[in-house]
Amino acid sequence: MSLLGVNVDHVGTLRQARKTYEPDPVWAAMEAQLGGADLITIHLRQDRRHICDRDLRLMRQTVSVPFNLEMSLEDEIVNIALDAHPAMVTIVPEKREELTTEGGLDVKSQIDRVRHAVEKFQDRGIKTSIFVDPDTDQISACREINADMVELHTGTYANSSGDQCESELEKLTRGAAFGRKQDLTVNAGHGLTYNNVSAIVESIRPHELHIGHSIIARAVFTGINDAVREMKNIIQKSLLNGL
Ligand code: PXP
Repeated sequence: MSLLGVNVDHVGTLRQARKTYEPDPVWAAMEAQLGGADLITIHLRQDRRHICDRDLRLMRQTVSVPFNLEMSLEDEIVNIALDAHPAMVTIVPEKREELTTEGGLDVKSQIDRVRHAVEKFQDRGIKTSIFVDPDTDQISACREINADMVELHTGTYANSSGDQCESELEKLTRGAAFGRKQDLTVNAGHGLTYNNVSAIVESIRPHELHIGHSIIARAVFTGINDAVREMKNIIQKSLLNGL
């Protein structure tokens, strides 16, 4: 079983291009659920470049599938997340100048800070996932601080081709096996598309896939409902192929 988490941030990106009220990411979350999304994800960035506090507030009231808040470890955002009480949080690195999340979190170099946040979330019954590269040291650090899940960063795989793509897929496959041995739930995401998701599902069989850009890009032409349904179909078929 690989669940599909749909990230609707880019509906907010389009709205914020004009700083107006449409298109509404809250509406997008509803449509994604109608298309079969198993989770809804948003990333509340410090600069609020796409998702705003109002979106988080309304989605917490309206989204009926598990809600995943992607977030940095900045105090302001941690406090908002504790207050919003999503089903899960995914802790990611965040830089103001980046176009999108670049690479996994370096858990090792700030292990006490990450541990402290994980403990706060778990005390409130919020599951914690940490976005990391498929690196055994980083995955071990997630185990050490008792995180529930890791989301393996698939961006390098997604941006590569030929032999490099094969070797990135191998790294992800080894990382996933290592994570499961450590009793971590293994998720995957970033840069996944209708074309490259199958290999990830077949080789890694992640518990959850987190996909945003490609689904929202397709939705411009087909609507979100159909775009999500199509991604779910591909995932379903790939699960059967991998048997
Ligand atoms: N997972 C994480 C941790 C992310 O930061 C993002 C981007 O917000 C995604 C998944 C989705 O990536 P994409 O938009 O490339 O599908």
